[in-house]
Amino acid sequence: MTKAWGGRFGPEGGRGAEAFTATLPVDQRLWPQDLAGSRAHARMLGRQGILTPEEVETILGGLDAVEAELTSGQAVFDPSLEDIHLWVESRLIERVGAVGGKLHTGRSRNDQVAVDEHLFVVEAAGDLEAALIRLETALVERAEREPGLVMPGYTHLQRAQPVLWSFHLLAFAFMFERDRDRLRETRRRATCSPLGAAALAGTPHPIDAHWTAAQLGLAIPCPNALDATSNRDEIVDLVYAGAMTAVHLSRLADELVLFSSEEFGFVVLDEAYARGSSIMPQKRNPETAELVRGKSGRVIGNLVALLVTLKGLPLGYQSDLMEDKERLFDTVDTVKASVQVMTDVVRTLTVRPERMAQAARGFALVTDLADALSARGVPFREAHHRVGALVRRMEAQGLTVEDLTPEVLARLDPSIPGELLAVLDPGRAVQARRSAGGTAPERVAEQIAALRRSLSAGAGGGA
Ligand code: ARG
Repeated sequence: MTKAWGGRFGPEGGRGAEAFTATLPVDQRLWPQDLAGSRAHARMLGRQGILTPEEVETILGGLDAVEAELTSGQAVFDPSLEDIHLWVESRLIERVGAVGGKLHTGRSRNDQVAVDEHLFVVEAAGDLEAALIRLETALVERAEREPGLVMPGYTHLQRAQPVLWSFHLLAFAFMFERDRDRLRETRRRATCSPLGAAALAGTPHPIDAHWTAAQLGLAIPCPNALDATSNRDEIVDLVYAGAMTAVHLSRLADELVLFSSEEFGFVVLDEAYARGSSIMPQKRNPETAELVRGKSGRVIGNLVALLVTLKGLPLGYQSDLMEDKERLFDTVDTVKASVQVMTDVVRTLTVRPERMAQAARGFALVTDLADALSARGVPFREAHHRVGALVRRMEAQGLTVEDLTPEVLARLDPSIPGELLAVLDPGRAVQARRSAGGTAPERVAEQIAALRRSLSAGAGGGA
């Protein structure tokens, strides 16, 4: 096949490393965006009188035929054609003849690849957002369905204070809220159109880049052609947003691994999302959650790889930029699949309220005793000290909070009034935390309402 740029070369030009330099195996995935860009560009060339109406009709008809070939699944992607842009052009010229070569008037592959990527990012960010809406909805539905369950909240992975299970679930939902916000920002920044930037400096042809931008659903032409063809910020934005989501998913997955262990026993993952061991018959491994946690590594790696690729590049298109698409596609595919599988895991797991309640009963309650003392005027620091000493004595004598009757308390520390022991109740401890964003049921209900509002605005395509 003659190269599109073959005029300047002998027959062996570029042949030495065709497989190494081709992006076609990867960027063939951009064909829908590439065809959309080419159609808009062809129509614009006609409107501007650069091509005749007949030429535009011929080219559009040819692009339809190329699309039919692509959707039939019969397309053969010969890597000597380098990339999807040259592949489409060569198929077009094969079908409609030399007039197909007029499509490249006033554009370059450098603005072509950039506009394809902008379109892909806008769409992929929307898809990821929709997937996150489903995951958040699953978390919120569980929180609504299981409102009163008390579990220990942890700091340093030590039992800290009782919280509601629903409150714990919502903490994750708010992380995914921020992720959706990042995706919306990504979309907003990606909505300029590089098409018309041409190779790097714009074009002498009287094109209308505003019109092509509007045709493609993008707000405006990108303001500087050199920047438009050199930067990949919209890809970094999406790959970063994806990395944050992957980190959040990994933290959720990690807790489910812990909570489903025999030691915690707070949740049981549905059989469909667990797997057995080929040697230890009793095992029920939380492999789906483990793998979600594991995959965050490569998603973070994609971000680092992309940033390192970009950091030393001079302005203008450089072939280093060909490395961007694998990082982009891998992030989009991995994060989307992880979000989907975690949505199902969250929906189908069962909780073990008695195990959670049991764990919430012990020393996780004694902050409330210190708070009760300080509410009676004892400086909090002193109250903390007294209760700490009480815990130390109880531990030494093998006593738990359940053993702490007024008589026992009178023996261990007569300065603490016995009636304060009423605060050592997980339900009461939770009810008491009514400060903004707290775990009290009415605060959790507010959090659910806020999430519901945001989810319905998001599902409606708003914001
Ligand atoms: N295939 C290239 C990419 O993936 C686009 C073409 C860029 N132009 C060039 N002269 N090589 O980024």
